[in-house]
Amino acid sequence: MEQLYNKDVLILAIETSCDETAASVVKNGREVLSNVIFTQIALHTRYGGVVPEIASRKHIEKINQVIEEALLQARVTLEELDAIAVTYGPGLVGALLVGVSEAKAISFASGIPLVGVHHISGHISANYIEHKELEPPFICLVASGGHSHLVAVKDYGVYEIIGMTRDDAAGEAFDKVARAIGLGYPGGPKIDKISKEGNPDAIPFPRAKIAENAYDFSFSGMKSAVLNYLNSCQMKGEPVCQADVAASFQKAVVDVLVEHSLHAVRQFHYDKFAIAGGVAANSSLRAAFETECRKRQISFYCPSPVLCTDNAAMIGAAGYYEFCRGVRSGYDLNAVPNLKL
Ligand code: KG4
Ligand code: ZN
Repeated sequence: MEQLYNKDVLILAIETSCDETAASVVKNGREVLSNVIFTQIALHTRYGGVVPEIASRKHIEKINQVIEEALLQARVTLEELDAIAVTYGPGLVGALLVGVSEAKAISFASGIPLVGVHHISGHISANYIEHKELEPPFICLVASGGHSHLVAVKDYGVYEIIGMTRDDAAGEAFDKVARAIGLGYPGGPKIDKISKEGNPDAIPFPRAKIAENAYDFSFSGMKSAVLNYLNSCQMKGEPVCQADVAASFQKAVVDVLVEHSLHAVRQFHYDKFAIAGGVAANSSLRAAFETECRKRQISFYCPSPVLCTDNAAMIGAAGYYEFCRGVRSGYDLNAVPNLKL
């Protein structure tokens, strides 16, 4: 990858859009010098999901410590930084505001330029970190707790949405099904784990197709089918095999994500395909894409699991390309909970 600046560019990145308080120092968009993540999962588990007010409060408590740790681990001082990149949307408004206010305060006090970053652009850019050879154009499936998007990455930071979910995001469906079968929060990793002991062909859950757009997704029907199955077992007094339900549900989600994504890659004549977002950490999804892409001679890219779920290194990678394009945010940068890509 050709360097865009004639000197090294050091970016401090901050991510607080949901329930991870994260900071990272990234060099030239692709080299991670530190990646500190304080996850609040344990705090939210007892409520069965993220409680926005608790998330915001915890971000406030942790943010300074996480940033100091990121700078320390990277052995970089504030004076050496070229920019501060921060997620400003989409996400929980109170949570986003903590990161945005912190980034603005540091930028104002130090004079270091501020760059607002889109959270999904961050997820996609996680692929640049571990695949130094990856350059646009390619297609990326972004599947997380809040989003399921098929995106054509035309250039760095230049995106065209090909398809998206009509209802629940893939991760949201994982979380809801996990709760229904008694696995608790967060559902994705738990379903991933228990599925290894189950039969993915035990229960034929439906694979929804959207008539108007072959690249859109729908996961709420799949989730309802699981709930109906659980109900009917209960009414008939039949036992439920958690592992079989998890494995069958997971297979249904993976089948749909793989089929729609690879259909788009073929139809739009791309030869590179990447995945991103929390659901991209799913072992069955990664294996399925690896196999199917190899069969079709499509180059397949995925970040390692720690860079799939929320982190700040991915924001540093996306922020670098924005910085190089001349993007600078003002002190009026605000949190935008429903920011569009
Ligand atoms: O990207 P992320 O950390 O946050 C959002 O931007 O939403 O994604 C979190 C989502 C959760 O719904 C979680 O259950 C799901 O990603 N997830 C997984 C796995 N790890 C996390 N889903 C399936 N399999 C996994 N291994
Ligand atoms: Zn995310």
